[in-house]
Amino acid sequence: MTAQIIDGKAIAAQIREEIRADVARMQQTYGKVPGLAAVLVGDRKDSQTYVRMKKKACAEVGIASFGYDLPADIGQDELRRLVEELNANPDVHGILVQLPLPSHIDEETILGAISIEKDVDGFHPLNIGRLSMKRREPLFVPCTPKGCIELIERSGFTIEGKRAVVLGRSNIVGLPAAMLLLHKNATVTICHSRTRNLPSIVREAEILVAAVGRAEMVRGDWVRPGAVVIDVGVNAVDDPNDPRGYRLVGDVAFDEVKEVAAAITPVPGGVGPMTIAMLLRNTTDAAMRALGMK
Ligand code: GUN
Repeated sequence: MTAQIIDGKAIAAQIREEIRADVARMQQTYGKVPGLAAVLVGDRKDSQTYVRMKKKACAEVGIASFGYDLPADIGQDELRRLVEELNANPDVHGILVQLPLPSHIDEETILGAISIEKDVDGFHPLNIGRLSMKRREPLFVPCTPKGCIELIERSGFTIEGKRAVVLGRSNIVGLPAAMLLLHKNATVTICHSRTRNLPSIVREAEILVAAVGRAEMVRGDWVRPGAVVIDVGVNAVDDPNDPRGYRLVGDVAFDEVKEVAAAITPVPGGVGPMTIAMLLRNTTDAAMRALGMK
């Protein structure tokens, strides 16, 4: 059996069309568009690329974006004051502080300073806390895990009752992905670097979310036949045949696993485009809420 390749680009494009329609309706009815503030600290190339892609995606659906590029040595108090200014700015409906922050800045302090109504990344401790509890609704769900769930459901797979395994326990992906799968009534196991007998646990998964950041770690014989495999990893590996000298691969050995799984996301073109689509969705939801449209 060869797996269905889940086309994240196509699903994200469909979601962006839904967002574009909401933004147009907002503009017609209220004369306003959603606004996203994107805060980048320091000069990490990967973070610069992500923020540039996010701002471009905003422009394509009619969301206004406001960029703040700050030096790596900015003080924590100065950064917190900027967040507070953005909290008070009525044209800004969503605030994104790109992670990771430089080590002299306490991430929790900065993320906790973002107004929860504008926390479109869903990283505020209150939003994460609500996500982690039964019958509590976070205002926003983190973008990458939300994108993983959308990929599964929009590809026609049900989550309820399934055995789900999440590889990785990061605050940005693994942990919230496990919570979302649990809310969808999957039976969830979270694996991490200290997990023993990893391949045998992964082999139980009917739904597998891999988010560990290790190139092609999940092999074909780790995967249960018929599983749905969502690969969040983005790892650069040397490739002398590629003009850039490297290529991007996921946490899953795609060529092996596609022969076993029912469905699999490619890297690139799987989860990546969904993360950005979900950020646009959350920003538009924030603006709709602020205007009383939701
Ligand atoms: N760094 C890696 N992923 C993300 C993300 O989704 N949002 C932010 N703000 N930073 C990140």
